[in-house]
Amino acid sequence: MLSTPWSREMGLRAPIVNAPMGGVAGGRLAAAVTAAGGLGMIGMGSTGSAARLTEELELLGTVSGPFGIGLVDWVLARDPGLLDTALAARPAVISVGFTDDFSWVPRLHRHGVTAVTQVYDAEQARRAAGAGVDVLVARGAEGGGHGEPLLGTLPLLDAVLDAVDVPVLAAGGISTGRTLAAVLAAGAAGAWLGTRFSVCTEALTSHNAREALFRARATDTVTTRVFDIGQNLPWPANFPSRVLRNDFTRQWKQCEDELGGSLAAHRALAAATAADDPAVAPVDAGQGVGTVTASTPAQVIVDDLCATAQRCLQKFATH
Ligand SMILES: Cc1cc2nc3c(=O)[nH]c(=O)nc-3n(C[C@H](O)[C@H](O)[C@H](O)COP(=O)(O)O)c2cc1C
Repeated sequence: MLSTPWSREMGLRAPIVNAPMGGVAGGRLAAAVTAAGGLGMIGMGSTGSAARLTEELELLGTVSGPFGIGLVDWVLARDPGLLDTALAARPAVISVGFTDDFSWVPRLHRHGVTAVTQVYDAEQARRAAGAGVDVLVARGAEGGGHGEPLLGTLPLLDAVLDAVDVPVLAAGGISTGRTLAAVLAAGAAGAWLGTRFSVCTEALTSHNAREALFRARATDTVTTRVFDIGQNLPWPANFPSRVLRNDFTRQWKQCEDELGGSLAAHRALAAATAADDPAVAPVDAGQGVGTVTASTPAQVIVDDLCATAQRCLQKFATH
């Protein structure tokens, strides 16, 4: 069995966490990942709310193991009831991302919940651990969705492991057993995977977005703010998102200022999003997307990741 001290302490059968992806990682995905032995996470992204979380918690049902909930700092500020709802669900873990305000940590600890956040350099890691965050996610620039693209996953993981003593999960571009083995060998307590789980059977990802993800090569992603600007989302400018390159990114990536004032572009983006047209609408994806070619149940993904990683790591075992 593939495990780490952290995964054993958490009661997991696999050192694997599905990233809390807004609009993608709902209750069904979290339940499936937990049932497969990993840590299933429900994600509340830009459109998250206490009401949406309640719906996804119903779909989670009675899980057979630990689960978590991931929240976005500026969304929490808009809907403080979100944290109350999350705590009432008694998750093992809550992650709050995209902030260096850690005032939420003591509240989690009072409820016996493990506090998690994503970090992007060693300095942020020291600050988060100093503020009492229990587990850090070292999220490299290869990763899908929003994040601060400062360092690649391996240099970041290396720096964060040197900087802090708390368990560190690796994230960004990990989508195969080989890449899982690499981060575990480097000292990660586990891996936090987004893109790989975004196409699994239980994810909320739409049909057209899945097809776009299957078609995409590893080089077909881009880091940009154009969708946040085009949707008037108040994402801080230091957190662009890695998405599939499409007509909208090609048209607006070099002229974000102009995009801010273009009502026509905002309307076109809203229409494409409503029509589920990935040629224009955003599809978050990391550089591991080239390995993603079909929808499979989370159980199959977790089993495959663990079996392949174990084989890779055994090559170096001494007898
Ligand atoms: C479709 C998608 C949606 C995401 N949504 C969120 C989110 O709502 N909250 C969050 O903290 N991270 C979100 N992320 C980022 C992940 O937490 C994680 O950093 C990233 O997926 C890791 O890289 P990978 O996609 O290469 O595995 C999202 C990622 C993807 C792919």
